[in-house]
Amino acid sequence: MALELDARQRAMLEEMHVRVWWPQAPAVVPAEPPAAVAAPVAPPPAVARPAPVVAAAMPVAAVPLSATVPADDGRAAAIAAMDWSALQLSVAGCEACKLCGTRKNTVFGVGPVAPGADAPPRVDWLIVGEAPGEQEDLRGEPFVGQAGKLLDNMLRAVGVSRHGEVRGAQAAFIVNVLKCRPPGNRNPALDEVAQCEPFLKRQIALLQPRLILAVGRFAVQSLLAGSVPDVQTQPLGRLRGKVYRYEGVPVVVSYHPAYLLRSLPEKAKAWADLCLAMETLRSP
Ligand code: URA
Repeated sequence: MALELDARQRAMLEEMHVRVWWPQAPAVVPAEPPAAVAAPVAPPPAVARPAPVVAAAMPVAAVPLSATVPADDGRAAAIAAMDWSALQLSVAGCEACKLCGTRKNTVFGVGPVAPGADAPPRVDWLIVGEAPGEQEDLRGEPFVGQAGKLLDNMLRAVGVSRHGEVRGAQAAFIVNVLKCRPPGNRNPALDEVAQCEPFLKRQIALLQPRLILAVGRFAVQSLLAGSVPDVQTQPLGRLRGKVYRYEGVPVVVSYHPAYLLRSLPEKAKAWADLCLAMETLRSP
């Protein structure tokens, strides 16, 4: 299916240095196994330009999250029974790992305003990132730094907004695997991921997004550890281009925006990932 973009979306992509094109002939088949739900649009060529460098780095070494120590069963069960407001309070007061000693704020997530205090907002997309950085820790909101600006621009290009209400945009809720900042923006530790996992799981259960976009290795491994046996050893690039499932919700894998800021060629691939996400949402 051809992707329809209006002038505003095209301008947005130009700003991101992503040149958009799609073949008139059937889409190019990727080197990886075919998509389970929809074939990805062939990635457009990237324009080489220097990108700003940001503190948050795309981790390189693989960390087997399957080795994660499970969170205490009683705690996980209690979180699994929480409503939206109880969940927010629980995150805000969490002391389950050492990050509570260094954080300034917890970062629950951000999205459109919910209809009621106890009700989660209605969203189409859930974006799952890694962990709050310095800005996010200060503001208590995910993706507010340079990587967040890029993420917002990319989402806006496909008519998606964390505020939802803007000109009929589809609504996105944005969260991280970790709700607290690891000091110095180091990688999340296994026990930190394990303690935070019940929060992410409950957020997804309550939000019931139509699609999850997992950006970066930690999000991908957290969400797919239970369903993709070799997810810890696969480079992220090899996991792209397919549609997975988390608790029945389609999951599309993409690069972390902080990594994209440093690696222009991958921006074009991230655009293809967004196209796959849109195709997935459109498919019956
Ligand atoms: N990187 C992330 O993964 N999440 C944020 O909120 C900010 C930067």
